[in-house]
Amino acid sequence: MTIITTERAGDVLVVISNNPPVNALGHAVRDGLAKAIDAAAADPAIKAVVIRCEGRTFFAGADITEFGKPMKDPQLPELLERIEALDKPVVAAIHGTALGGGLETALACHYRVAVPSAKLGLPEVKLGILPGAGGTQRLPRVVGAEAALEMIVGGAPIGAKKAAEVGLVDRLAAEDNLAAEAIAFAREVADKRPLPRTSERKAAAEPGMFEAFRAKNAKKMKGFEAPEACIEAIQAAVDLPFREGLEVERRLIAKLIVSDQSKAQRHIFFAERAAAKVDGLPTDTPLIPVKSVGVIGAGTMGGGIAMNFLSIGVPVTILEAEQAALDRGVGVIAKNYANNVKSGRMTEAQVEKAMALLKPTLSYDDLAQADLVIEAVFENMDVKKEVFARLDKAAKPGAILATNTSYLDVDEIASVTARPEYVLGMHFFSPANVMKLLEVVRGAKTSDSVLATAMALAKQIRKIAVVAGVCHGFIGNRMLKPRQDQAGQLILEGAKPSDVDRVFLDFGFPMGPFQLADLAGLDIGWHRDPTRRETVREALCAEGRLGQKSGGGFYDYDEKRQRTPSPVAERIIAEFAAAKGIPQRQISDEEIRERCLYTMVNEGAKILEEGKAQRASDIDVVWVYGYGWPVYRGGPMLWADQIGLKTVVDGLKRQADRLGPDFSLSPLLVAKAEKGETFN
Ligand code: 3HC
Ligand code: NAI
Repeated sequence: MTIITTERAGDVLVVISNNPPVNALGHAVRDGLAKAIDAAAADPAIKAVVIRCEGRTFFAGADITEFGKPMKDPQLPELLERIEALDKPVVAAIHGTALGGGLETALACHYRVAVPSAKLGLPEVKLGILPGAGGTQRLPRVVGAEAALEMIVGGAPIGAKKAAEVGLVDRLAAEDNLAAEAIAFAREVADKRPLPRTSERKAAAEPGMFEAFRAKNAKKMKGFEAPEACIEAIQAAVDLPFREGLEVERRLIAKLIVSDQSKAQRHIFFAERAAAKVDGLPTDTPLIPVKSVGVIGAGTMGGGIAMNFLSIGVPVTILEAEQAALDRGVGVIAKNYANNVKSGRMTEAQVEKAMALLKPTLSYDDLAQADLVIEAVFENMDVKKEVFARLDKAAKPGAILATNTSYLDVDEIASVTARPEYVLGMHFFSPANVMKLLEVVRGAKTSDSVLATAMALAKQIRKIAVVAGVCHGFIGNRMLKPRQDQAGQLILEGAKPSDVDRVFLDFGFPMGPFQLADLAGLDIGWHRDPTRRETVREALCAEGRLGQKSGGGFYDYDEKRQRTPSPVAERIIAEFAAAKGIPQRQISDEEIRERCLYTMVNEGAKILEEGKAQRASDIDVVWVYGYGWPVYRGGPMLWADQIGLKTVVDGLKRQADRLGPDFSLSPLLVAKAEKGETFN
């Protein structure tokens, strides 16, 4: 197949790229474009050029799979200079997404025509790099430095209509007539001189803008290397002539592209896409149509789960045991939607439409027509079994029955039904209407169609699904356990909760384990008997310290919920340790990291060993999208690869005596460390 072809439309040369799936600017594309531009330059009969793409999108960027390898000529920056230097107008005809190198190509063209549904953006920052083909220098010259900062440092694309407003798109074309309108436009401008070359413009900026932008976005940018580099490059576009600015851009990208952060972010990009693929599941596995959904339990999770489907237009019947709980649950859904309107994420009309699709009920009969029912009742096996037994009778044959259990055995739950092949886990994360991750738990008998349907549905509700096998806590919560155990033990041996949390914050987590515990409430699962003090949490609850909501837990909180280390909590912890006869000592940050994070890697390796996750990168996706693992560290398994598996094993061996009786080294981890291998 020829990737770049050309066609003559009178005196316009139309250059067409056909490089599925997303027209990434790999070597063959660059080479073909360069030859087409040379041909246009050499042929006096050609008055203008249109560059357009076949398939679902305009160029979606550089070919990320070429990163880290020697790049073959022509390189993108040089190619773009040749396009811009051509003495005949070049028009980019944009549909789908013009992203990264794709938008940079469009910026090097003299004009841009786009359909209204097109999106334009420079998302490189999300891959830990910056636009490296002149984007940091050209975009500010077209839209101004302030808008360029938003687009380049934020990384989110803008719609073509907005792009037309800010001068990034010269003309909007009808959705189904782009090619013809772009050619017509090229004819209109064929004789116009001088050619509008972006590099010859000046980038406008208000004084103090860069400092203000840094201050406003400090929290979002914390820990990441690429955003600051983007800002520096845009500043160069304002301060320096084009060519010198390009040099700054080149120097900065050269450094970023080989950084661990960029490798980690690129890893997550591909890991996210790999997670959608289920090994051994034929791609033509028939899907079960899901046109209506049932949810059992309208608590914290049930409400959020329902919102996912309501928001994409799928009717939901939500069932509770009692009217009061049902009313409360529906009230919370309505309130969450109202907040979405306040924050501008939804319109009143969208919310009305979504709420009209919600049917609250107390009767299982109302679940008879649902194609999928998701259970989100209390985390208790007996309750779940009772619910599934009733549901099995009420639901129609062929309906999928899913459980949102956090830890429990999905096969045991399935065993009370007459249709275990239709049962699986769909483990959402809180808040379920917001969090991107969905663990899809494949039971021993779950059928291929049921699994494939759950994966496809996840995509529809814009979740990132990862397949997990049945085991206690699946992937995420199973790995959380050693971390929680070690954190709990460390504060009994002399570390303060704030010491442990600081190590997590420095690592890049949004919160440490004790901050998180205080936020969730220490009384989750508490038996409410103040005389029983078998754990530190029980001791804290016994003294009324239930977490943020009671003004204190592991920390003290003021009215604004600002936390400070708590002398009272520390006394309670010290008394508890003394009663258990645990000697106190100085604990280093290194020990906290080794005990809390290396044990997670070890558990991840066991999950792989047992085949409970399909691949190491799936584990990374779970931790980045479900638990706030910093994306620039690529998830626990990639992080372990980067620091070296031998380092992890040595650290675990060093701590072996302190890790408790439940700990054992993963043979897979040890074997890989000995052979100098990695997980990814
Ligand atoms: N390079 C290589 N492969 C890419 C790619 C790219 N830039 N973009 C997407 N792909 C691959 C995906 O890995 C996937 O492969 P698979 O089918 O084997 O899993 C396939 O193309 C389809 O991608 P999606 O599943 O993501 O398709 P969607 O239709 O959901 O999304 C998209 C399309 C919005 C274009 C999305 O793929 C995307 O965001 N791509 C990345 C865009 C990007 O980051 N561009 C900047 C690249 S860096 C750059 O340009 C540097 C320059 O400044 C020098
Ligand atoms: P919750 O206590 O907020 O809600 C449970 C709801 O189920 C209550 O409203 C209760 O009235 C209802 N319920 C109980 N028994 C019922 C029955 N027999 N029939 C109908 N309704 C019944 O609990 P939450 O947090 O929503 O958890 C639900 C499930 O989701 C649990 O299995 C939990 O492990 C899991 N989960 C919880 C997460 C969280 O962060 N809260 C995260 C992921 C999963």
